[in-house]
Amino acid sequence: MVLASVTCSAPVNIAVIKYWGKRDEKLILPLNSSLSGTLHQDDLKTTTTIVASESFTEDALWLNGKKEDINAVRYQNVLNAIRSRATKLTDKKHFVHIASINNFPTAAGLASSASGYCCLVFTLAQLYGVDGDISAIARMGSGSACRSMFGGFVKWEMGQKEDGSDSVAIQVQPEQHWPEMNIIVLVVNDKKKETSSTDGMQKSAATSVMMKERCAVTVPQRMKDIEEAIKNKDFETFGDITMKDSDDFHEVCATTTPPIYYLNDTSRYIINLINRYNKASGSIKCAYTFDAGPNACVYLPKDNVVEVLSLFLKHFPGQDISTYYRGPKENIAAIESYQP
Ligand code: DP6
Repeated sequence: MVLASVTCSAPVNIAVIKYWGKRDEKLILPLNSSLSGTLHQDDLKTTTTIVASESFTEDALWLNGKKEDINAVRYQNVLNAIRSRATKLTDKKHFVHIASINNFPTAAGLASSASGYCCLVFTLAQLYGVDGDISAIARMGSGSACRSMFGGFVKWEMGQKEDGSDSVAIQVQPEQHWPEMNIIVLVVNDKKKETSSTDGMQKSAATSVMMKERCAVTVPQRMKDIEEAIKNKDFETFGDITMKDSDDFHEVCATTTPPIYYLNDTSRYIINLINRYNKASGSIKCAYTFDAGPNACVYLPKDNVVEVLSLFLKHFPGQDISTYYRGPKENIAAIESYQP
């Protein structure tokens, strides 16, 4: 017998201060705080349906129609953490079936673990009646997932406690705060990356000479400065810090042993193009940021979208370029349907 069924969705987020390196691999506690902008629900999102039934014989999970191993440690950590805080379904023996889909093609080459784990945890929390902060549970699935719990601009405080209870996501500004902010995504390569974020950051933490300074000095200062820039809607400072942090993050990867190169020639062409364009304009008109892959995410004010898009189209005719508008709609993880 079906006891409950819930469907929720959660959006992707794009970091401007990058999370790179863990101090605790199991709990997924980071070496530095990070900050991102969350996209809209109707742009890039994951939708997850979870059904609890007394007649299921095991827990099971499908991602985009393909059955996954639910016994994988990150799924188990998340499931156990939610079940230990459950206020519903506690008196009935049952299992859950979970089906999760992304509305963006995996070929878009954009990280789906953030929206995926955020959505899984948010949906499980509805099913099991878990209140309070659940970003720390999403974090245990994939670090960057905790930031997708909120819309607008969100920071992930690295926290100090050993149990990770203070390593949580906090909304810095809501989605209504800076509605002029847009994001353009330039898909450079849609192949799966050679080095996963999880492996890459572990190697960088162990070997890159840049990590110590980055975590102790550079990022703490940038977190303060970018929060202030977001508060003041100061795009000049926001863009400057965003590009510097992306550059430094890829420098950390390049100084890892053996070196990790996520950017390719096209990515570097985009970096040069944007730098030259900003210089010629006399101000920062748009700001690039690259995650652990070659695809560019470009933050820019709405007024500059037409000019910047035409610049990209001139240099990359026929390229897959998508624009995303970030404000001012509701874009936090949301319940789509619930059937007790
Ligand atoms: C470069 O969150 O995917 O996108 O915690 O090991 O699952 P795990 O890593 P993940 O790393 C994301 C790294 C990044 C930067 C960022 O999103 O802050």
